[in-house]
Amino acid sequence: MDHAANPHFAALMSKITSGNAKVGVIGLGYVGLPLAAAFHAAGYSVLGYDTDPNKPKFLKEGTPYLKHLGTDLYKTLAASKKFEATTDPVRLGECDAIAVCVPTPLDQFHVPDLSYVVKSAETIARTVRPGQLLILESTTYPFTTRKEFRQPLEAKGLTCGKEIFIAFSPEREDPGNKNHTTVTIPKVVGGLDKPSGELSVALYAKAFKQVVPVSSAEVAESAKLLENIFRCVNIAMVNELKIVFDAMGINIWEVIEAARTKPFGFMPFYPGPGLGGHCIPIDPFYLTYKSKEFGVTSQFIELAGLINTRMPYYVVDRTARALSDRGKPLKGSRVLVLGLAYKPDIDDVRESPSFELIEEFRERGCHVDYTDPHVPKTFPTRDHCLDLTGVPCTPESIRSYDALIVSTAHAAFPWDMIAKEAKFVVDTRGAMARYAAQMGERLFRA
Ligand SMILES: NC(=O)c1ccc[n+]([C@@H]2O[C@H](COP(=O)([O-])OP(=O)(O)OC[C@H]3O[C@@H](n4cnc5c(N)ncnc54)[C@H](O)[C@@H]3O)[C@@H](O)[C@H]2O)c1
Repeated sequence: MDHAANPHFAALMSKITSGNAKVGVIGLGYVGLPLAAAFHAAGYSVLGYDTDPNKPKFLKEGTPYLKHLGTDLYKTLAASKKFEATTDPVRLGECDAIAVCVPTPLDQFHVPDLSYVVKSAETIARTVRPGQLLILESTTYPFTTRKEFRQPLEAKGLTCGKEIFIAFSPEREDPGNKNHTTVTIPKVVGGLDKPSGELSVALYAKAFKQVVPVSSAEVAESAKLLENIFRCVNIAMVNELKIVFDAMGINIWEVIEAARTKPFGFMPFYPGPGLGGHCIPIDPFYLTYKSKEFGVTSQFIELAGLINTRMPYYVVDRTARALSDRGKPLKGSRVLVLGLAYKPDIDDVRESPSFELIEEFRERGCHVDYTDPHVPKTFPTRDHCLDLTGVPCTPESIRSYDALIVSTAHAAFPWDMIAKEAKFVVDTRGAMARYAAQMGERLFRA
């Protein structure tokens, strides 16, 4: 039977194209919340579902919990009759399409943890009904949608491509990016079969400026991994080059600025104190894991991981050497880490290398504080239980440290004051290059 004649396909397609479909979003975090807002702005009725009761509560009140999204989004959703958020999984049965945006971390042995994805599929399966489109958005290895995600959904006897429809569409959210919003980033979509792909394309086409259909869920899953592995490997390469050029007394940032004037065939990547965020340090290892099942290795990824995870220790070693050259032992020094978030101008601290820096400086006998205008206080993360409160970034405070470590170059830092008052700055981001002449020996690259 031609799938256009399938009544479940036809009814769902009609609901989607008329804008009458109800769309569910599972997981209202960095990815799920802006996605829910995009579907809502496109005119769909949207139901957000999260196991964390704070998320629906905050959304009902209009209280911002991810600050980089601004306050208007929260006000709009709280005031809308077409948006609701809930912790009641039974209500997912009301939805015609459901996008799943739950975490995909690595466990303590560096193995992909798909438990959130599987649990979400099991939750949907409790109320799954013919005529539903179920889309996985969480980053993962190829075949997850076809195997781990699909299995629970079909367990009640509904078949993908006939009664239900399943697809993968990777999220490309870049929190804090001023040039792109959720809807202006092209949306790659791959179905487990043709009908699932067509329905997904129709769903996203109403909300996103450009939809990029691909031939399968596996291509879509792999495209996302390629994007993140590309970043991970290139960052590792410049981190390694930094170490090489440092040894030669050559300024890597000046080298990159010169190289980037080439109008073709070059894209700049920048070194730093290590990798952070929920994606780049983690996603590549999903492919490493899966590739073993196929008897092949992913050496670029593993080498990149090795180099990137060594970077915080390199920074600490370089700081120790530089302080020692100034007659000051690292042990007993007062160190201030500038920036706890993993990248500038946001409050996300997941996998931030600043935690490694703080822990390693402490291990070496330093008194360590941090300052971050976006993260006034720390809270336990999956990997770190540091209970710290940021210190104020005032002239008195800045003067009281033996070394400042620039880990995250937030625009909100008072750079002029820091350049004036700091005894000694170790700049891992090239953020203080413009003060080189003013600071002289007080500025050190690492
Ligand atoms: N953060 C990013 O910038 C980004 C960018 C691209 C892709 N991704 C990918 O998107 C996915 C989600 O990441 P995120 O950053 O939004 O994570 P997040 O931690 O910000 O949000 C996940 C949300 O899911 C909820 N949740 C967990 N288990 C659940 C369950 N069983 N049912 C319902 N809700 C549940 C959590 O309470 C949380 O609110 C990951 O796979 C990530 O790799 C993230």
